Amino acid sequence: MTHDETVEVRVVETEDGSRTLYLPGMDETYHSTHGAMTESSHVYIQNGLDFWLGENPGAKSVRVFEMGLGTGTNALLAMDWCERTGCAVKFYTVEKFPLSETLMREYWGDTVYAERSEALHASAWEQWVDIPLSSAPFSVFKHKRDIQEAQVPDTVDVVFWDAFGPNKQEGVWGVELFQPMYDAMLEGGVFVTYSAAGDVKRALQQVGFGVKKLDGPPYKRHMLLAQKV
Ligand SMILES: C[S@@+](CC[C@H](N)C(=O)[O-])C[C@H]1O[C@@H](n2cnc3c(N)ncnc32)[C@H](O)[C@@H]1O
Repeated sequence: MTHDETVEVRVVETEDGSRTLYLPGMDETYHSTHGAMTESSHVYIQNGLDFWLGENPGAKSVRVFEMGLGTGTNALLAMDWCERTGCAVKFYTVEKFPLSETLMREYWGDTVYAERSEALHASAWEQWVDIPLSSAPFSVFKHKRDIQEAQVPDTVDVVFWDAFGPNKQEGVWGVELFQPMYDAMLEGGVFVTYSAAGDVKRALQQVGFGVKKLDGPPYKRHMLLAQKV
């Protein structure tokens, strides 16, 4: 059973015209209602991938770890980034509550992401799958598991931590989950998240990251960028 077959999920429009999902049972959205794509681009693409590439100019490939595939917004934006920069992406993503292909067709259906979303959401779990792009290679590994039990790849360059808010869901933020991320990174590895919560910041510092508060996306004062130093 997929998540939307077991709980009520509503598609809602956000202020930049892109969509997000709303879970009434949790009173939580998958993205900022002030702009879903704007938030994802700001936090994960600009402050995650662009920042990492700025520090690793000329890099030919990057290994991403994402907590929470959800709608695939970050993966689809990472595909755009891959084409724009020519840097290959290996995108490893963990999801406990997959969404149905039917819902994802409705969600992305009349957008430029429809075809790639279809390829992403229809791709097999637990194996690397190539998503055809016009320039650099993009491959995705979808790992269907609770983040608490997830296998972490040997090496990770950039982490997208896109869990539901720490005030909404327990067990998806904290030292015991951040430690394996830190351990899988080389020096200079980057961890980005939309949350700027004090507990999240302290947990990242506790495992050894240097943590900076950056400007957040519209209507969100801050976000966090952590780096292995
Ligand atoms: C804030 S949403 C973001 C999803 C996605 N990045 C997107 O842009 O749509 C959080 C995601 O984490 C997933 N999730 C929640 N609890 C989880 C857990 N314990 N382990 C793995 N994934 C989980 C949810 O199903 C959801 O897809």
